[in-house]
Amino acid sequence: MSQEFWENKNVVITGTSSGIGEAVLNELNQIKCTVFALDRSPANEIAKKKAEIVQIKCDISSDEDISKAQEIIGKKTQKVDVLFNNAGITTHGRFDKTDISVFRKSFDINFFGTVNLTLKLIEFIKNAKGAIITTSTVSGLYGIPGRAVYSSSKSALHAVFESVRIELSEYGVRSIIFCPPYTKTNLRTTGMDAKGNQLNEAQYSGKLLTPEEVAREMMRAVENPNSRLVTFDKSGKFVKWLRLFAPGFLERFLFKKLYDDFH
Ligand SMILES: NC(=O)c1ccc[n+]([C@@H]2O[C@H](COP(=O)([O-])OP(=O)(O)OC[C@H]3O[C@@H](n4cnc5c(N)ncnc54)[C@H](OP(=O)(O)O)[C@@H]3O)[C@@H](O)[C@H]2O)c1
Repeated sequence: MSQEFWENKNVVITGTSSGIGEAVLNELNQIKCTVFALDRSPANEIAKKKAEIVQIKCDISSDEDISKAQEIIGKKTQKVDVLFNNAGITTHGRFDKTDISVFRKSFDINFFGTVNLTLKLIEFIKNAKGAIITTSTVSGLYGIPGRAVYSSSKSALHAVFESVRIELSEYGVRSIIFCPPYTKTNLRTTGMDAKGNQLNEAQYSGKLLTPEEVAREMMRAVENPNSRLVTFDKSGKFVKWLRLFAPGFLERFLFKKLYDDFH
């Protein structure tokens, strides 16, 4: 990670209360920059280190909160160098047992919330020739069994942020889609099941990255001018390439590997 890259930058991060968003915030707090930390229910003031941190209460599924966040940011600066579209929730459950309200709630946060905030900040991002980094997931690269809601709410973001990349390239704006592998965060306790109840599932039993490792990888992805669709472990690369070259094999593999997950 290059300290100089981040110095004096204006950065917006959503979902800074825990996990990957909190880890990005902590990394940036070591650098002289300005961070707008958007959090649904900011409890404590974040200890100031080198960065100036502006905490903003913002539920990204609320139009009102997003407009207020835009106003607060706009009063301080007309330039946003980097937007981390990080906030999100997961949903576990098989498609034929899922309530439509669960799709709607997930899309309100993961999809519409992310798109709405980006639209509200887009002129500031253009002014800065800035970068947007949107946290998807390996499950956003293909429809994963037991994850129809989560996969679809994230993969829909790929299309939006690819269009953004092409359209806004003439303004010098970059758009990165970032797909981390399993990471040890609160995601599986705060998500929903197919009926909309709180998930409360145990952590994945295989290899887990720490939020700090993922945060540093995300920051490196922003620093690299060529980043587009970023995966960085075996699972990400496996799904990224097999979906194109051997989708039948990939589907049989996912059926077997995740069978217990959707039964
Ligand atoms: N953990 C993984 O294995 C993994 C893998 C791939 C991708 N991801 C993605 O990484 C991102 C961060 O998740 P995480 O793993 O760090 O989980 P996390 O610890 O649960 O963090 C999620 C963050 O999103 C916030 N959030 C949820 N709904 C929100 C809303 N309506 N408005 C504003 N903020 C909201 C949460 O705030 P509250 O505290 O208020 O709920 C929290 O700060 C997510 O987009 C997730 O899909 C995670």
